[in-house]
Amino acid sequence: MTESRVPRRRRFVVCEPRHFAVQYAINPWMSTGRPVDVIRALDQWQALVDTYRAHGHTVDTVAPVPGLPDMVFAANCAVVVGGRVFGSLFHAPERRPESVPFEAWFKTEGFEVHHPESVCEGEGDLVPAGRWILAGTGFRTTRDAHREVQEFFGVPVISLTLVDPYFYHLDTALFVLDDGTDAEAPGAGGGNIAYYPGAFSPGSREVLERLYPDAVLATREDALAFGLNSVSDGRHVYIAPAARGLAEQLDGRGYVPVPVDLSEFHKAGGGIKCCTQEIRETRS
Ligand code: ARG
Repeated sequence: MTESRVPRRRRFVVCEPRHFAVQYAINPWMSTGRPVDVIRALDQWQALVDTYRAHGHTVDTVAPVPGLPDMVFAANCAVVVGGRVFGSLFHAPERRPESVPFEAWFKTEGFEVHHPESVCEGEGDLVPAGRWILAGTGFRTTRDAHREVQEFFGVPVISLTLVDPYFYHLDTALFVLDDGTDAEAPGAGGGNIAYYPGAFSPGSREVLERLYPDAVLATREDALAFGLNSVSDGRHVYIAPAARGLAEQLDGRGYVPVPVDLSEFHKAGGGIKCCTQEIRETRS
């Protein structure tokens, strides 16, 4: 099975953590009393970028803005499907200004950006999964935004309710292993995913069980290690090294775990996926 997993080259957008800090607390991971080591953060972030490039992926960068310490979490600025950009409207007033520099970047790259009417935190809560988009709500992105996303892309949006404040964004509790477009993927429509069931309401758990009977289920321990805040290219899974159990399960399913330590960013409630925005030029 291992040989059948074929990576697809991705285009990512990231933002250097030059101004990274924990200056406010908007999720349970953040504590303003706990200092952040910016040099260490820069090193860890650079290692992630280097790893993506070494695996053949394209990585573009958006210039960081002083006074916006969470800008490194580029995933939150938008969701891009079929070359169309659905922008962000952050829940926390502290993060609202981040939408502006990201939008400016998309425009210089030739993309139009749709402004959401309701609170919406990009790929943090909106996870394109082949023929549909999985969408989280409960802490940040609203159900109204889910409707707006469906209308904008014309792609079915499946709303999932998050119930555990430690997993306040969908991308902390679930990630796409393959999106059904990757070679040899059986492709039930939405590919396959890994997730932590305890992060979801009972009804949403049932939805995930119906859509993904073959999903990889993570333990709370691996989820708390940011194991589900991972990026998969269809073969390699860029994953937090502390999520050992999950990495073993992935290995057993023919994926190749590629450990990348972003522990300095866990202090702000973020990890690998949070730092990675994906530009999807095509619509599957
Ligand atoms: N401190 C940031 C916040 O709470 C972390 C964002 C993490 N991003 C993500 N895609 N989960 O908004």
